[in-house]
Amino acid sequence: MRAIVIYETGGPEVLKLDEVPDPKPDAGQVVVRTEAIGVSYTEAALRAGGFPLPAQLPAVFGFEAAGVVTETGDGVDKALTGRRVVIMNTGLGTYAEYATAPADTLAFIPDDMSSQQAVAVANFGAVALCLLRKANLTGNETVLVEAAAGGVGGYLTQLAHELGAKTVIATAGSQAKREYADSIGADQVIDHSAPDWAGQLTDDSVDAVFESFSGDSTGKLLPKLTPGTGRIMLYGFLQGPPTITAMDLLRRGLTLVGCGGMPGWLDRVMAARHDVFQLVASGHLTPQIDSILPLEEAASAHQRFDTRTAIGKIILTP
Ligand SMILES: NC(=O)c1ccc[n+]([C@@H]2O[C@H](COP(=O)([O-])OP(=O)(O)OC[C@H]3O[C@@H](n4cnc5c(N)ncnc54)[C@H](OP(=O)(O)O)[C@@H]3O)[C@@H](O)[C@H]2O)c1
Repeated sequence: MRAIVIYETGGPEVLKLDEVPDPKPDAGQVVVRTEAIGVSYTEAALRAGGFPLPAQLPAVFGFEAAGVVTETGDGVDKALTGRRVVIMNTGLGTYAEYATAPADTLAFIPDDMSSQQAVAVANFGAVALCLLRKANLTGNETVLVEAAAGGVGGYLTQLAHELGAKTVIATAGSQAKREYADSIGADQVIDHSAPDWAGQLTDDSVDAVFESFSGDSTGKLLPKLTPGTGRIMLYGFLQGPPTITAMDLLRRGLTLVGCGGMPGWLDRVMAARHDVFQLVASGHLTPQIDSILPLEEAASAHQRFDTRTAIGKIILTP
């Protein structure tokens, strides 16, 4: 089959189109004929070597795809064959015509949703939904969404009012992204490329921050959070690990909520994908698709994330 193989970490050019053997399902797995393959900023960061890759190289790259189950391994219900599903792998292997996935991690795509829409919204929509549920908003609170035109940030912005935010303040680094954030429900949009962007926020005015920047950014936001009840929903490290200490939180009675590595988080995200499909069906959520490219243009897709030009997910078609 045709696949995009990563031979070493580095620039987008390390992703190369190749011929590799078709995958076979292990016990408990299915094989999916891919129809739409999701590409995200997070994958570009992994390709660049920003985080350890969960596989030996060379390997077929990619974490998510939507398609049709064509084969089942031992112990898997054969009736799954022919079902349209989204897969989210913790290992690699989805930038290809066929991919394997554990049968108990499949999200079943509604009949009236395309594979492209499904892979665009399922996993990052579910992350956003889990973050908002964990923030437990009261209905009268102000939230700050960083990188609001991004993969997770865009879905946070779209869903925040529905999940209990009264006011949504969004940040984005380019004019096009700020206009996009405005169009999907932000009440106020801040340019986070400005050196003191946090200074534009009123002290004690933000109840929950959806923190994907971290680094020095978190500390600058502390005076902006409501003393006593303000919370930082920490889910990304785009600017490095947060530099704040427990004393910084204690002084203002703030809470830092880790949202990512803890046991059960991934299971919760996977389960939330079905709720995400319902939110799309009811018109509360729109899949964000930046562009659709042929599989062989995987490197171009990564380039768009490296240059921060993508808004939403890029879809590769095999
Ligand atoms: N905890 C979880 O379950 C989970 C799940 C998925 C992703 N994540 C994490 O969430 C974060 C966002 O992921 P995503 O895929 O949704 O990304 P994304 O928002 O689509 O892309 C990152 C955006 O962040 C902005 N940015 C600000 N500082 C940056 C920097 N130093 N380097 C690169 N970009 C920067 C850029 O937007 P502008 O052009 O507007 O500046 C960029 O486009 C990542 O840290 C990722 O690892 C966590």
